[in-house]
Formats: sequence, C-alpha cells, structure tokens
Amino acid sequence: MKFGHFDDQNKEYVITTPKTPLPWINYLGCTDFFSLMSNTCGGYTFYKDAKLLRMTRYRYNDTTPDTNGKYFYIKDGDTIWNPGWQPTKTELDSYECRHGIGYSKFTGVKNDVKAELITFVPIGDPVELTKVTITNNSSAHKDIQLFSYVEWCLWNADDDMKNYQRNLSIGEVEVIDSTIYHKTEYRERRNHYAVYSVNTKIDGFETSRDEFRGAYNGPDRPAAVIEGKLHNTIASGWYPIASHQINLSLDAGECKTFVFALGYVENPEDEKWEKPGIINKKRANALLAKYQTTEDFDNALAKLNTYWDGLLSKFHVESNDEHVNRMVNIWNQYQCMVTFNMSRSASYYETGIGRGMGFRDSCQDLLGFVHLIPDRARERIIDIASTQFQDGSAYHQYQPLTKKGNSDIGSGFNDDPLWLIAGTSAYIRETGDTSILKEMVPYDNDMSVATTLMEHLKRSFDYIVNHKGPHDLPLIGRADWNDCLNLNCFSEHPGESFQCFGPSEGPVAESVFIAGMFVKYGREYAALAKLMGDTAEEARVLAEVDKMTAAIEKDGWDGDWFVRAYDAYSHKVGSKECDEGQIYIEPQGMCVMAGVGVDDGNAKKALDSVKEKLDTKYGVMILQPAYTRYHLELGEITSYPPGYKENAGIFCHNNPWISIAETCIGRGDRAFEVYKKTCPSYIEDISEIHRTEPYVYSQMVAGADARFHGEAKNSWLTGTAAWTFTNISQYILGIYPTLEGLSVNPCTPAAFGDFNITREYRGVIYNIEIKNPNKVQKGVASLTVDGNEIEGNVIPFDSSKKTVNVVATMK
Ligand code: BGC
Ligand code: NOJ
Repeated sequence: MKFGHFDDQNKEYVITTPKTPLPWINYLGCTDFFSLMSNTCGGYTFYKDAKLLRMTRYRYNDTTPDTNGKYFYIKDGDTIWNPGWQPTKTELDSYECRHGIGYSKFTGVKNDVKAELITFVPIGDPVELTKVTITNNSSAHKDIQLFSYVEWCLWNADDDMKNYQRNLSIGEVEVIDSTIYHKTEYRERRNHYAVYSVNTKIDGFETSRDEFRGAYNGPDRPAAVIEGKLHNTIASGWYPIASHQINLSLDAGECKTFVFALGYVENPEDEKWEKPGIINKKRANALLAKYQTTEDFDNALAKLNTYWDGLLSKFHVESNDEHVNRMVNIWNQYQCMVTFNMSRSASYYETGIGRGMGFRDSCQDLLGFVHLIPDRARERIIDIASTQFQDGSAYHQYQPLTKKGNSDIGSGFNDDPLWLIAGTSAYIRETGDTSILKEMVPYDNDMSVATTLMEHLKRSFDYIVNHKGPHDLPLIGRADWNDCLNLNCFSEHPGESFQCFGPSEGPVAESVFIAGMFVKYGREYAALAKLMGDTAEEARVLAEVDKMTAAIEKDGWDGDWFVRAYDAYSHKVGSKECDEGQIYIEPQGMCVMAGVGVDDGNAKKALDSVKEKLDTKYGVMILQPAYTRYHLELGEITSYPPGYKENAGIFCHNNPWISIAETCIGRGDRAFEVYKKTCPSYIEDISEIHRTEPYVYSQMVAGADARFHGEAKNSWLTGTAAWTFTNISQYILGIYPTLEGLSVNPCTPAAFGDFNITREYRGVIYNIEIKNPNKVQKGVASLTVDGNEIEGNVIPFDSSKKTVNVVATMK
C-alpha cells in the first residue's frame, strides 16, 4: 500500500494522507541552521547542535512520536483546524504534503478555506521561513483567524526535559510589534536569542503556554484559539511559547499571504544590550528585514532550488529503470547530504540529545558526499583526523560544536583508524588534491604534536599492524564496525554501556572484518604512498597486506564463508562450530570487496552462502541463526530480540557491501537483486509493511526471526545512504574515481539495457554513454574518449578539457 507518490519532475515526494504509518519527515537547512519537518508539520529547529542550541521543543516519549512542531491554527467559525492535520486532527477536506529538496509544502482544505504553507531555510541565513497563503474558496465573505505556534526550548534540550526546579523559573521573552524574542538565559552566559516574526500587523500574541492552551488542555484544544483571542501575555518562567494572531477578512475568492520567520541571532559580547535588561535587536531586525515580502521569500526559495539543482546534477543517470534514476539523481544524493550535516545526531530516532559525530560514521558518510561538496569533505577529514591519538587510535566520537574528542566514550573501536584511510583516499581519488596529505594535523587537538595527514594515515595503518592477536588477525578492542559485537565487555549489570564497559582492549579477541578492511584500505594507502613517491612505504604496506591476506585465508576461512571473529577465549564467532550466529554478513562483504578469495573461488562460495543463509525478500540479514539468549562473551549483539538490529536484523548499511562484492565477481544480476531489496523506491508499494519514508534508506529492517519482518526503523541518518550511493554509482553503474581518472566498468543485470551518465569530476563534465549490445553483466570491450579508443578502463584525467564524451561498449 502507498501513502503518496513520487513527483520526479519536481523532485518531491507527495504524501496524500497525514496518517502515514510513521512520521515521514524532511530536513530544512544546508549549513548551521536546521529543522526537521514531518508530514504533519511536526519537528524541531536548532542552530548547529541539536542538543546544545535547540530552539524549539520536541516532546519525548509522547503517545504519538510526532508531538510538537511549528503549527498554524485556523479558526473558521466553530471549526479549528491545522493545514498539516496535527495537532487538532480535525478531518480535512483535502490534504497534501510535498517533501522537496530542502523545503516542504502543505496544502490543507477545510470548509472551502484553503491553507498553503511552504517552508524552508534560505541559503546563508539562520532563519526558517514559512509562507502561508489562505484562500476563501467559498461564495461568501469569511472572517477567520490565523494563529501561529511554536514552543521554545530553553536551549539545552537535554537539561530542558529534566531540570524543572531551575527551568520553570528562567523563561524570558520580549515582544515588539509583530516580533517575539525568546531570550531565556541571555541575561547571563548566552549571547544568542531566538525570534519569531510575521510580515504584517498582528491582532494579538501569546508567549505563555499555559495561557495559550488553558488549564488541562493539550495543543489539540488550545483555549485561546477556541476563544478566538490571544491575550498578549508576556511569559515569566514556566513554558515560553510564541504565537501570533492575525484576523482575516476574506471576500469570496480572495486570498492573503504572510511570511513568517523563525530565526536565531548572536550578538558580540559588548553589543548584547540595547539598555539594561533589553536585548540588542539590531541583528535580529536586519535579518528579518531581508524577508519582508513574498518576493523576498520566492527569490530565496528560487536560490535554494538552484543550489540543489547544481549539487544534484554532479551525478546524473538516465537508464531504463525509473527507480534507479530517481534514487540516484535525487533522493540518495539528498540523503547523503543530510547525513553529512546531521551525522547521527538529530532525526526521529536519533533524538538530538544523544551522540555526537562518529569517527567511523563521518568517514563513511564522506564516501557519499565527497563528489557533491569536496571542500567541505576536506575540512571534515581534517576535523576527524584532529581527534586521532598519537598511536593511531581514535576517539570514537567528537562534538560538532567544539570538534573535540568525546572522552565519555573514548577510544578502542579498532576499525576506526582504517576508516580515516577510506575517507581520505575517496577524497583524493575524487579531487586529485594531494595537498591535503601535507596538511599539518594535530593529535587529540594538540597542535604541538601535529604531523602531516599522511603521517596520520601511516599511524592508522600501523595501529592495526601493532595490535594483532593469536591468529595474526587484528584485535577487535571494544568493537569494530558492529558496535554490538563486544568481545571484551562481559557486562552483567543493567545500565552499563556495552560500548564503554570493560577494558578497551583485550589481548585475544580478533576481528576478521577488520582484517578485510586492512587489506582493502591498506592497498588504498599503499597507492597514496606510491603517488607521493614513497615506494619504500608502498612496498612495506603491501607486504603487510599480503601477511594479513594469508592470515584471513588460514584462520579467517570457515570452509564455506569467512569467520566473523575470535572471542576472548579464542573461540570462533560466525562459524559452523557455533550453535547460534554461525554466519555474519560483514566479513563476507568486506573480505570480497578487498579481493580476498576472488581468485580461488572462496569469494563465490562466501557469497553463495550469504544467499543461501542470510537472504530474505526484504534484504540480507546481518547474521543467522539469530541469538536466542544473552551471551556474556559476545555483548550487546545478543541483547536484542531475534530479528532486530544487530541480532539478525537486515542491517541496510552492509547490504551494499554484498552487492559490491557481487560486482567484484561479475554477477550483475545478483548485485542488482540485492540493491533492489532495500531500495526505498522499489518498496514504496509495501509502505504499510516497511513503514518508514519511501524516499530514504533506513538503518534497519526487521529480519526473518522478528514478529514484524520487513518493518524498518531508524530512517535517514545511516551509513546506508553513502554506501548505497557508492554501490550504485561506482560499482553497478561502474563510474569509479581512481587516482588517475574516472574508471568505467559497470556490472549490471544482463537485461538492464544501455544507459547514460553525466558526471562532474575535478571540474570537468563527463558525458558517458554505456552500451550493452550483447546483454552481458560485466566487462568493457571498448572505451572511446572524444572519439579516440583507449586501452583499459580508466579515462586519463585532462584538466584542459571542459567536457569529455565517452562511449563504453560492454563485451
Ligand atoms: C546500536 C548500534 C549503535 C550503538 C552505538 C547500539 O545500541 O544497536 O547500532 O551503533 O548502539 O550508539
Ligand atoms: C550504527 C552506528 O552509527 C555505526 O557506527 C555502526 O557501525 C552500526 N550501528 C553497526 O553497529
């Protein structure tokens, strides 16, 4: 069942009922200022950091997962309604929500009154703009009232929910004309406040939530709206809000438009006050002055659309498959940008009060957006590397505001260092900018011990070389990519963090997955060493990679698939020998991507085992058989009920690894079959089962052992976005950036047909035509570049050209 449809022309998903299985959200904002916007106008707004600079409240653990937003109420006689349905939930005569790229539009109709909202964050300004258009479509004159509503968060979203003994006494606001200023804590250590304004004279305002709602009412029955009159209250403590009232007198057919602006303002310390106790509003007023007319609004929206069109056109495919076109050209790239901005901080599942930026998450996200915003990828790499320790290990997370490592969680996730190589290599392959390798980058933010970024990569690599276990495989530490495989943790008490409890290192537990990573990214590091002219380092690295490959072949192979790990007793994890958890997805994907077993047939065997043991119609499960009891020696993974999350869920993040691995052995049919299973557009028809947004990837789909097999959770902020984009663009469609230039080597289903790609690469536009006359799955027979046939798959990079026309004919 569907709850809407794609509008590819406008790059929108059109939701046709507010009653979607779960809130279906969108993100507004490109830098610094962000809003989450659900299909019923729910969501919250923050500046830079969802926890520390939260502007509006979200209500945690409420009875619907979507309570509180930026609402507009309409009172038309005795009927009170919202264009986005919530919070009154008055049945609408018609409803539509269009989530677009960086904006959302809502149209609600009730009793011949039409309300249209468009909301977005303009490029370059910390403000959310909403244009509200109210039309009287009846044949009679109407007097109606429009009310806005936001509930302020007292900035620190975590403290805001807990510390009532203080917080209920500190709320402060000012109101001048149509602008409400929220200034809680400005009197002391903050130099920022929020504003909510509208470009018209208002007929009333409210800043006290109690006054707005009335005793015992919720936001669904606000007393002041029912009364049709706000009381011009100035909040003092309790719960500050902002609400405007506009009385509308509309003739038949008449419409009126207003622009609302919700903004964030910072003042320099010495310019905080206009006079004692009165905030300096100069900057706020300057910001608001930019968006006073509908033309200002429309121009800013047009600018935003141009910005996104420019970004998304950097990779464009035209194939016979509408799902591939739509996901690649629009939604998958868009989601990659959102994961760049949010990391894992603020979604409807990541609460905006939890973790900071993940070291490994951010490095992997980079794979998906480096072609879109290479400059910001460069900055991100430096930020991440600056949190590395001198021995090559790394803080697992860092805080976006301070960019400092998070000592609560510390280090000891032994895959982390290698992801820095993955991200840096992707950046250089994309841009050719080797100057980044010579940048001086601190360790643990201490500039006095800074070295070049290249030295950071060496220490990343050597961290693994120097931390091996009894089988010469890498020690796992607290966990590797699978945060829940905690082989040194042994946690027996509720409340202990599986990630932080126990020693950060054990001398025995080893990871075959990290071994695969070491081979793959070790080779990429060797290629960088060679590029920088250090052939001695290249040779040293490749020798280490060979040793690791041998260790995987010897002790990492289980007969039909790769072993997952060795636990602290040196028992195998992910082996036929185990009673539960006999086969895991991660080493099958990573080892084959690294080329292990490709020549001797083990890769094929491993991937056949994946198909036989882990596949379902909704995607490939992370492991089988599911753990049915808690295994002290394995940690959090066995804490989840069977079929959920890391315990035999379909973890979408590593499905593309399997798909890529299939392309490594040339099986385009199967690679694409795996791609399709988790691809949101392909499964739009089963939205009632899948439940999360049909335009973005979710982290997890419940596996075959779960009660709700096929149901997804944790949409938006997942490494799935970057890895699926990498898979479809670089491996299936086959346009892979190498250090020397773009390589063209597709691996598609036999029946996929011809396709064209436009790809911007290092400032040059490549128009690539791919022909597959003999319906093969892989192999390029000839490659012509601007009419000249070349040897091999790689188009040599030539910066003197503006466009390059390429024709690849498959065998
Ligand atoms: C989740 C993991 C996550 C980890 C760290 C676990 O509870 O299952 O997916 O990576 O927490 O936040
Ligand atoms: C989510 C985390 O953000 C990511 O770092 C981890 O690899 C996966 N969960 C698997 O545990």
